[in-house]
Amino acid sequence: MEENFEEKIRKKESLKRRKDSNMFKIVEEVFDYQTLQTLYRLINIGYIKRLYGVVAAGKEARIYWGVNSKNMDLAIKIFLVKTAEFRRGRLKYIEGDPRFKKIKKDIRQIVRLWCSKEFRNLKRAYSIGLNVPKPYVFENNILIMEFIDAGIRGVPAPTIKEDPPKDMEKAYRSIIDSIKKLWWKARLVHADLSEYNILNKNERLYIIDWGSAVDISHPRSEEFLLRDITNITRFFKMYIKTIKPEVIYKEIVLSS
Ligand SMILES: Nc1ncnc2c1ncn2[C@@H]1O[C@H](COP(=O)(O)OP(=O)(O)OP(=O)(O)O)[C@@H](O)[C@H]1O
Ligand SMILES: [Mg+2]
Repeated sequence: MEENFEEKIRKKESLKRRKDSNMFKIVEEVFDYQTLQTLYRLINIGYIKRLYGVVAAGKEARIYWGVNSKNMDLAIKIFLVKTAEFRRGRLKYIEGDPRFKKIKKDIRQIVRLWCSKEFRNLKRAYSIGLNVPKPYVFENNILIMEFIDAGIRGVPAPTIKEDPPKDMEKAYRSIIDSIKKLWWKARLVHADLSEYNILNKNERLYIIDWGSAVDISHPRSEEFLLRDITNITRFFKMYIKTIKPEVIYKEIVLSS
């Protein structure tokens, strides 16, 4: 889509105006121009009314607390294009060399793909009734979902690593059950499941961080499945008696 010159100037001016507002002080230093543009679009469309502080900053994404026009809390996951560029390494030696004109665009596309993958995985898991944050919308490298709080608005629920469930037997059963349902009904494997990606909201567990999940037709899906079960078992067996990962794994793949 070609924008005309005036349109571009108009957008830049409105960007400058917005820079005065506090809302953007917290994001403008971290994000590139196009990410900010996407954020403004989501605000203009009405998906985001207010953006508050960052609640988590990882290597690949930052999560912000925001609210929509109905004053519902949102978790806004913004995938970092800049660090993705750094991770590709030595970009400065490549940029400006006409032979590699496309590389920046490619990185942006990969990050966008990652974001859309997380959104689609989340939707599939949500649609079969798993306890996951409700996905709202994504655009480019920004994903908006339900905010899972700890009882205080804007404070994320702790992970089960930070706040182990009181009833470990029940928690273990519910996670194993989720893994099974995910394979049988949603035909997905999370592929990054561990105590770090499960939130404990008043003893209700939510599985998050769906970017790595794959369809069961993926050539390595079974390997990822066994790895997820093994990770979960390693955590729970510190507290309770657990079933051998291979037994659960076989039950899942043999009856699908
Ligand atoms: N829907 C949500 N509601 C509340 N907090 C959330 C939500 N999603 C993520 N968080 C917070 O952000 C943290 C990181 O989220 P997530 O694992 O999705 O990001 P990540 O960038 O992949 O992180 P990491 O690299 O550490 O795995 C979570 O531990 C949690 O504190
Ligand atoms: Mg994570």
